[in-house]
Amino acid sequence: MIKSLAYLGVRSPNYLEWERFGPEVLGLQLAGHGPDGAVRLRLDEAAHRITIHPGERNAVAYIGWSVQDEAGAAAVAERVTAYGIDVSRAGAEECAERKVEGFYWFKDPSGFRHELSWGQFHTVAAFHPGRAISGFRTAEQGLGHVVLAVNDLEEGDRFYREVLGFHPSDIVRDGPLVAHFYHINGRHHSLAISALPTREVAFLHLMIEVNALDDVGTAHDLCERREIPITTTLGKHSNDHMVSFYMYTPSGFRLEYGWGGLDVDHDLWMPRTYDKPSSWGHRRQHAELTALKLDEAPPR
Ligand SMILES: [Fe+2]
Repeated sequence: MIKSLAYLGVRSPNYLEWERFGPEVLGLQLAGHGPDGAVRLRLDEAAHRITIHPGERNAVAYIGWSVQDEAGAAAVAERVTAYGIDVSRAGAEECAERKVEGFYWFKDPSGFRHELSWGQFHTVAAFHPGRAISGFRTAEQGLGHVVLAVNDLEEGDRFYREVLGFHPSDIVRDGPLVAHFYHINGRHHSLAISALPTREVAFLHLMIEVNALDDVGTAHDLCERREIPITTTLGKHSNDHMVSFYMYTPSGFRLEYGWGGLDVDHDLWMPRTYDKPSSWGHRRQHAELTALKLDEAPPR
């Protein structure tokens, strides 16, 4: 059973910009560098959850999920194999680099690399935010959520639900926009998928959640002051109630910075459908800024 979003890895020629962007704008803690020079960032007691590796172009490298334990990861890996997708078990070096006890990895039908990890390293040193903020809402809810544009929405929906075990939270149907949202813990969604009219595969955004609305406001001021593009204006999502805005990171992906996300109780939750993604605000701008691509071309 996948329990939470554990970590995210990106490759980027601008990876070193994160040494300042992470702490100064997002309030993350710089957690040293990986063996390849990657900038590691921390937002709670976990060793690191966001890693920006050096790379020739901006691309999402891997999406890491926490599974209860090795047996749990093996069970999910078996279902992925039965679906017809090759699964590999990571070697000691890769596990040490991710700071987990172990992980299996595979590429989903759209080509995204997912890692099923267990035993994420935590450190006793207190989390020390890069700027004065209330802190991030993580714990059993994990890093936050990711939103992916998949090549086939129906196939993606089937794969994430039936193979990986994500639970439907709701669907947004707003004209040509159709998005499926899934929970695996109390966070309303840890994953959402959509399909672009071009059927192009892309990493649409990462959301991280702070504990106070003022922290969102401060981040918004910082983006304006530093002329960091705000790709979606301040607003509130209809389904998870998140009050947030989206910024364009130095590595070409959008980051949603939010507060006030809804908790769901899986036993009581009834999936629903919304006609709009947001109750107010969230106006898209900077349409010229494209979404992040995959590290390698999709397998088909
Ligand atoms: Fe989001």
